Amino acid sequence: MTNRIALVTGGAGGIGAATCRALAENDLRVAVADIDLARAQATMAELPGKGHIALALDVLREESVAAAFARTEASLGAISVLVCVAGGSLITDDYRPKIADMTLDFWSRTEAVNSRGTFLCVREFLRLRTQSPMADARIIALASLAGQTGGSSQTDAAYGASKAAIMSLMRNAAVQGAPLGITANAIAPGLIDTEKVRMAVTPEQREATAAQTPLKRLGLASEVADVIAFLASPKSGFVTGQTVNVNGGRFMI
Ligand SMILES: NC(=O)c1ccc[n+]([C@@H]2O[C@H](COP(=O)([O-])OP(=O)(O)OC[C@H]3O[C@@H](n4cnc5c(N)ncnc54)[C@H](O)[C@@H]3O)[C@@H](O)[C@H]2O)c1
Repeated sequence: MTNRIALVTGGAGGIGAATCRALAENDLRVAVADIDLARAQATMAELPGKGHIALALDVLREESVAAAFARTEASLGAISVLVCVAGGSLITDDYRPKIADMTLDFWSRTEAVNSRGTFLCVREFLRLRTQSPMADARIIALASLAGQTGGSSQTDAAYGASKAAIMSLMRNAAVQGAPLGITANAIAPGLIDTEKVRMAVTPEQREATAAQTPLKRLGLASEVADVIAFLASPKSGFVTGQTVNVNGGRFMI
């Protein structure tokens, strides 16, 4: 067991829980932080190893972000690794707007849960590590293939733009974090077979996406988590400011 501590936002969701597991398997102690405390606790209870915690976090609220980081550092010690997973698309079967039909409220809520929430967590982490820098610190944030393509096929313009903002934020954080020993990278998954995706994307759309993917399938949450675990490790020390694609080759066709 190392002394490295990770805080994972959205840690109770599909990719978040897989990330918590991969980090715990790599001997990190994990703070599983999610707006859904009960699911965060259930995720934490199944992690290998000891010394993990679960906590309630709303990435939209500054005071909630500050409290979650403070509680993690008080309970576990200084955080080495921040993984920002909380977020997602807000489209539903009933509301899948094109730009011309999109309400300002939909745009703002999508931007908030993705890019604003990531910004608030990254800001808090940089503040803490400025006060007490540590070697091999890491920021990893979930962007999306939609942030590169615009999101017109499966999601929406607000989601694509909010994820593009995260990729840009990581490039800036890479420059500002470097003197503090922090690397910052984004992950851009293609369609990953999580419960959320099974609810939000029809079986026909999932099959069509698999058919358009060179590897002819959707990704697994564990395959995203394994890339995050590498970026979280000291072995990734010369990788910063990058967007790592985990998409079965989909971007190329
Ligand atoms: N699944 C995919 O195909 C896919 C593809 C590209 C990118 N992503 C991104 O990966 C991330 C996880 O996706 P997923 O499929 O695991 O979704 P998910 O819905 O299972 O996980 C999201 C988690 O974030 C939590 N959350 C939501 N709002 C929050 C808030 N305000 N504060 C704290 N926690 C909050 C949810 O409770 C949930 O546990 C998202 O950012 C998503 O945009 C997913």
